[in-house]
Amino acid sequence: MRNFLLIILLVFIGSTIACSNGGCKILDPCSSDSDCEAGTYCSSCFGGFSGSRCVRSRITDQFKLVNNSMPFNKYAYLTTHNSFAIVGEPSHTGVPRTTFTNQEDTVSQQLNNGVRALMLDTYDFQGEVWLCHSIGGKCNDFTAFEPAVDTLKEIEAFLGANPSEIITLILEDYVHAPNGLTNVFNQSGLLKFLFPLSRMPLSGQDWPLVSDMVTKNQRLLVFTSMRAKQNTEGIAYQWNFMVENHYGDDGMKAGNCSNRAESAPLTDTSKSLVLTNYFPSIPIEAASCGHNSAELINMLHVCHGAAGNRWANFVAVDFYKAFHQMMKRSFETDPARESTVSWKDASAYTRIISSVLDGSRIRVSKRWPLEVQEEIAEERSHLPDGRNRSLIRRGG
Ligand SMILES: *[C@@H]1O[C@H](CO)[C@@H](O)[C@H](O)[C@H]1NC(C)=O
Ligand SMILES: *[C@@H]1O[C@H](CO)[C@@H](O)[C@H](O)[C@H]1NC(C)=O
Ligand SMILES: *[C@@H]1O[C@H](CO)[C@@H](O)[C@H](O)[C@H]1NC(C)=O
Ligand SMILES: *[C@@H]1O[C@H](CO)[C@@H](O)[C@H](O)[C@H]1NC(C)=O
Repeated sequence: MRNFLLIILLVFIGSTIACSNGGCKILDPCSSDSDCEAGTYCSSCFGGFSGSRCVRSRITDQFKLVNNSMPFNKYAYLTTHNSFAIVGEPSHTGVPRTTFTNQEDTVSQQLNNGVRALMLDTYDFQGEVWLCHSIGGKCNDFTAFEPAVDTLKEIEAFLGANPSEIITLILEDYVHAPNGLTNVFNQSGLLKFLFPLSRMPLSGQDWPLVSDMVTKNQRLLVFTSMRAKQNTEGIAYQWNFMVENHYGDDGMKAGNCSNRAESAPLTDTSKSLVLTNYFPSIPIEAASCGHNSAELINMLHVCHGAAGNRWANFVAVDFYKAFHQMMKRSFETDPARESTVSWKDASAYTRIISSVLDGSRIRVSKRWPLEVQEEIAEERSHLPDGRNRSLIRRGG
């Protein structure tokens, strides 16, 4: 009787999972990550598609795809909100943590998957700087995640191993210890990568070219939410350089993209960088793949208009992995405007690459750079016929 049940079970599994051991392609049903081919992992998306399927785990590197010879502010960077608040992170205080999480894997994994900006909350705690959630600006042992130096060392290792990459840190900063941030950056070995404040454009000019930042090895941008630190420690005050919409539930009101209180109005082009937040006040993992798809795309459109026709440089989300299927079509998918694409603008470029997941919508032009044509062909080869458009529809 037992054997009989086992056989039935095997037949059943065999008929639903047609591939395994790294042989499953994007959107094929899967039962574990190891079923999925390189660059994809096994995931479910309630409201997006049925069961578990292989989805993309990495984004395409724009610096390689276009080239890295445009100003830093002409590219878009996938940004993790509360990058440090990781599901399953063990307690480092000896007290069980009772607070919410925002991301599903380590900062090293985030970076390896293409995340290029991290939002970190920094606090004085136990005589050091810690990454923490808080109530009233104070870190508690039951809300602390880890000493900041550990995370900064992961970033140092990534920058060391990837000499063409640039990382931006956006700090919600509660550190009051004198030189607290400078000391922890020094301790982590990151100071050598720091992009100097003196080179940051203050009046809306373009940033230096990415290639120039790479050549000079100035590949770490740090912004603090504490205004005074620009004078005391030479750390850029975020809203001198960046406009940003509301965060949390206020940032998710359909059709409404307006600046958070600390930021200048989004139309203020004296700040060359644009940050778009799109995540709820209370992170909900199961809802994130819905939030991070069509809803986010719509908001990126709204914020583009609200920011004086500027696309977001930083797109901040919770549970970023749920973003990847949509990442490449995030910026604009209006087919009517296809012919207006300008290759001078990385966002427009991203738009074309991104609409590839929409399959038949775009026509590849022979005038486009060869690497772009190749990338599109590569993307298309991963799309099983008949699943592409319907997935996008349901995913959105
Ligand atoms: C960094 O740390 C080293 C060794 O402790 C010290 O000599 C140096 O002055 C520090 N640099 C800064 C900018 O704090
Ligand atoms: C947009 O949202 C902000 C933040 O919640 C709110 O203050 C503002 O009144 C809203 N604007 C409109 C037009 O609804
Ligand atoms: C990089 O790409 C831009 C946009 O396509 C182009 O204008 C520029 O000439 C390219 N630069 C290099 C060095 O290839
Ligand atoms: C997407 O699916 C449609 C059928 O729904 C098919 O005609 C089209 O060729 C597919 N596109 C790609 C790129 O596979």
